[in-house]
Amino acid sequence: MPTDVYASRRARVCAALRAAGGGLALLPTAPERPRNADSEHPFRHDSAFFYLTGFAEPGAWLLLDAAGSSLLLCRPKDTEREIWDGYRLGPDTAAATLGIDEALPVALLDEVLPERLANQPAVWFPFGGHDGLAAQVNGWLAAVRSRSRSGIEAPAQQRDLAVVLDEMRLFKDAHEVALMRRAGEIGAAAHVRAMRACRPGLREYELEAELLHEFRRSGASGPAYNSIVAAGRNACILHYQAGSAELGLGGAGDAELEAGELCLIDAGCEYGGYASDITRTFPVNGRYTPAQRTLYELVLTAQEAAISLTRPGARKLDSHWAAIRVLSEGLLELGLLDRNTLGGVDDVVANAAYRRFYMHGTGHWLGLDVHDAGEYSALDEAPVEQADGMGQRVVKKPSRLLQPGMVLTIEPGLYVRPAPDVDERWWHIGIRIEDDALVTPEGCELLSRGAPVRPDDIEALMRK
Ligand code: GLY
Ligand code: MN
Ligand code: MN
Repeated sequence: MPTDVYASRRARVCAALRAAGGGLALLPTAPERPRNADSEHPFRHDSAFFYLTGFAEPGAWLLLDAAGSSLLLCRPKDTEREIWDGYRLGPDTAAATLGIDEALPVALLDEVLPERLANQPAVWFPFGGHDGLAAQVNGWLAAVRSRSRSGIEAPAQQRDLAVVLDEMRLFKDAHEVALMRRAGEIGAAAHVRAMRACRPGLREYELEAELLHEFRRSGASGPAYNSIVAAGRNACILHYQAGSAELGLGGAGDAELEAGELCLIDAGCEYGGYASDITRTFPVNGRYTPAQRTLYELVLTAQEAAISLTRPGARKLDSHWAAIRVLSEGLLELGLLDRNTLGGVDDVVANAAYRRFYMHGTGHWLGLDVHDAGEYSALDEAPVEQADGMGQRVVKKPSRLLQPGMVLTIEPGLYVRPAPDVDERWWHIGIRIEDDALVTPEGCELLSRGAPVRPDDIEALMRK
C-alpha cells in the first residue's frame, strides 16, 4: 500500500480547502447494497473515498481538517463477523497501515462529527452521489448549534467537496497512470482473446466469458461496466445488454454470431480501481465484407482525426468536431446522406444531419469511474456562441483545453438502421472504435492499442 500517494493527495485537498477559507471535509465510502434475501451486490468503494485513502472496506468515513489532519472512521474488529464475512482492518491498526493520523470506530460517527465541526468556518462534503448525506450533515450542524451557549460556533457554510476532488481526479498522477496503463493492457488482451475465440455459431455470452477470463486471470477485479457483446444488428443498439430473465440484466445476450456479420465488443476492466473502456468491431468469420470494410475504414479515419487533436492546446470538443467532419464527408461520399437534399459537409455538420448515423459523443474522461469526474467546460472563460451538437447554436462556455495528465476515450462510430432511403448493403452495420488516451506534453499515448485496430491486422489476428 503506497501510503505516501494517498497522503500527498490528502495534503493537496487540505491545501485547497485552506486556500478556499478552511473548514472540515467529510467523505463516506459507498454503502453496501442488498441484491436479494441475504445476498449483497459485490461491494464497490466510493471512487473519491478510495482516491484519498486506498481503503476498500465498506462502512468507512474520512474526515480532513483543512489545517492538515486526517481521521478515518471504520468498522471495528469483530471475530464473529470476520468468520462470516472476512477480515477487517479495524481502527487500532488502520491509522498506521493507511498512513492516516487517527482512526476511530465508525459507531462514534454521530459523536465525533459535532465535536470536529465545532468552530469550523465551513463543512465540505460531496453534494451529490450519497443518499441522505445532506440530511445527516444538517443533523450534525444542529447538534453543534445546540451548544452555542457554551460559546461554540457552528460552520456558517456548507460547500461542495466534489468541486475540489473532481478537478484533482481529472489530472492523473504517476501512480494512477501506471494503473491505467495496466487496465488498458488487460482490457486490450481481453479483446484479442475474444477475437481469437470468435467463430460462427458461438453466442454473445461465450465471447463475454472470454473477456471475463482474461480480466480475472490478469488480476483485474472484473469489468469496469457491463460488457457489450453485440452480434450483427445488435451493434446498432448503443447500450445493448441481455435483459432477459434467463440471462439476467447486465451482461451479454444470447444471440448467435453469424458468418458475414460483425461483432461489436465494448468492454473494459477495472484494475486497481481504474477503468479501461475499449471497443472493437470485427467480422465474425474473420473477413470484413466490402461494405463493412468501407464503413470501418471511415470510422477509423474519423478516430485518427480525433486522436491527432487529442493534445495539449486543443479543446476537449475539437476531436469530436474533427471526427464528425470526417464521418459527414464520408457519409455524403457514400450516398448515405443525400447531397441533393442536405447540401455539403458544412451543412451536414451545422444542422446535425450526421446524427442519424452518429448520435453520441466522441469521448469522456476516464479514471476511477468509466465516465470519470471532471468539468468539461472552461469555467474560467467567457461564454461564446457555438454549435450545441443538435443542429442549433447556443451561447455557453467553451469546452476546456486539454492538458497533460488527463485521460479520455476516443470513440467515434456509425450505426445504420434499415430505411427506405438507405441502400440495403449498409443495413444493420454498427461500428464503434474506442481507445483510451493519456494526454502527454507532445500529444497523447493510447493505452489500449494492444488490441489491433486496422482491419488488416484484425483479419490477420483472426486467421491465426
Ligand atoms: N462503455 C461505455 C462508454 O463507452 O461510454
Ligand atoms: Mn466510452
Ligand atoms: Mn465503451
